[in-house]
Amino acid sequence: MTALTLSTAGAATLRADALVVGVAKGVKGPVLAPGSEAVDKAFDGKLAAVLATLGATGAEGELTKLPAASGLKAPVVVAVGLGPVPDKEDAYDAEALRRAAGTAARALSGSKKAGFALPAGSVEDAAAVAEGALLGSYAFTAYQGGENKLAPKDSGPKQPLAEVALLGGKPRDKAYKAAVERALALVEEINRARDLINTPPNDLYPESFAAVATAAGKEHGVKVQVLDEKALVKGGFGGILGVGQGSANGPRLVKLAYTHPKAEKTLAFVGKGITYDSGGISLKPAGHNETMKCDMSGAAAVFAAVVTAARLGLKVNVTGWLALAENMPSGNATRPGDVLRMYSGKTVEVLNTDAEGRLVLGDALTRASEEKPDAIVDVATLTGAMVLALGNRTFGIMANDDAFRTSIHEIAEEVGEASWPMPLPADLRKGMDSPTADIANMGERMGGGLVAGLFLKEFVGEGIAWAHLDIAGPAFHEGAPYGYTPKGGTGSAVRTLVRLAERTADGDLG
Ligand code: BES
Ligand code: MN
Ligand code: ZN
Repeated sequence: MTALTLSTAGAATLRADALVVGVAKGVKGPVLAPGSEAVDKAFDGKLAAVLATLGATGAEGELTKLPAASGLKAPVVVAVGLGPVPDKEDAYDAEALRRAAGTAARALSGSKKAGFALPAGSVEDAAAVAEGALLGSYAFTAYQGGENKLAPKDSGPKQPLAEVALLGGKPRDKAYKAAVERALALVEEINRARDLINTPPNDLYPESFAAVATAAGKEHGVKVQVLDEKALVKGGFGGILGVGQGSANGPRLVKLAYTHPKAEKTLAFVGKGITYDSGGISLKPAGHNETMKCDMSGAAAVFAAVVTAARLGLKVNVTGWLALAENMPSGNATRPGDVLRMYSGKTVEVLNTDAEGRLVLGDALTRASEEKPDAIVDVATLTGAMVLALGNRTFGIMANDDAFRTSIHEIAEEVGEASWPMPLPADLRKGMDSPTADIANMGERMGGGLVAGLFLKEFVGEGIAWAHLDIAGPAFHEGAPYGYTPKGGTGSAVRTLVRLAERTADGDLG
């Protein structure tokens, strides 16, 4: 991955391919952000005026490249927009810094080294710039650069920016060093989640996902247990088996356990891991299945969060449950009308095999509940209805505990992930009444995201605080890249889960 250093050099002396500065939108034109002083000095204090001449305004997402003034050791200056000048001169919003750093990093793909002279006066600012620059330095190129035997060799895909040098921080300060270490571990794991999401489903299926988890667990001190089909049958995991039985690639339930000897609390994270969602016998129409390799984004997020917690050595136990299956139609597939017996003992009438996420999650939630964690958070690309409700960039939060839902919402906000609290209205439960089984896997169409949440709730153990994050919107980005968000897998919810673990470790939550 991209390297990150806290530079001891100043912006004027750093040898790099480019220097990045921040520019905000002021009432009278672009205003340079703190951190850019040495670069501005090389322009005789006229950098803001030069940028204005070039048409820069400081708007968010804006990027201006210009040749560096003499005296600088880098040939190019990249000015990125931060949006409106904050009320307090140096109080730039962390997410604005993250996005600006990401925009710059993306524009610098193919370069070796860039100095980031964005605000770094506080550890929080430096951490945001580090995260944004690293998240923006991502490219999924594993399947590109194939050589055409009959054509001349081309240069292949552009590689991400190779080295980020953070300027203006305190390289010898413990807190700065820790922030850099944290950003590196966090983003490496987010990028691993992105890779898993982007990997095509002919290569990423339950068994191969479990193998990746096993290897990463070994490397980072996380205990990994894999239940294969035989073990799932023995254990009575009817939901996971019912979803997976139509595929030649059998399902798995993976348990990841990170423990700290002095931990006082245990968190359980549960991820939906449908490595491909064709819809099954209730087959999705063309136009709705091209991106369904992303249906394991919840499991990827959980995996990334548990490994990050381990790498940071957080004083909390974190257990991850990856409910992995491929949802395919075949002669062995579950039919609409079949009844499954879930791990909890409850029976479910499957009315629509495309409502498969709640079936694998139901089993995993019950299994997670057996270990009596202090709280459970599940993450899932669960419903199209949530995308209709909140759009492509915001995930919904449902919970059986209002205070816990509020905490998760605040944490997401703090780490720069857009989310919104959603209710679990009890009246929607009766739509899932089944004449044949204890519950049906479908209910009313209206409020479909909440119906799915109500279904999951029935598989959570009594008295355990539980939240459900429906990331169907933000998990996979189909539009043009922006800020630090690339096309494809985004790593949605990892930052929220990691901060929840950190807060729990610090005793900041109940
Ligand atoms: N994986 C889909 C949900 C989804 C939709 C994820 C769009 C990402 C983007 C899920 O399994 C699904 O098919 N849900 C159905 C449920 C319905 C049949 C009750 C849906 O939302 O249409
Ligand atoms: Mn589905
Ligand atoms: Zn699905």
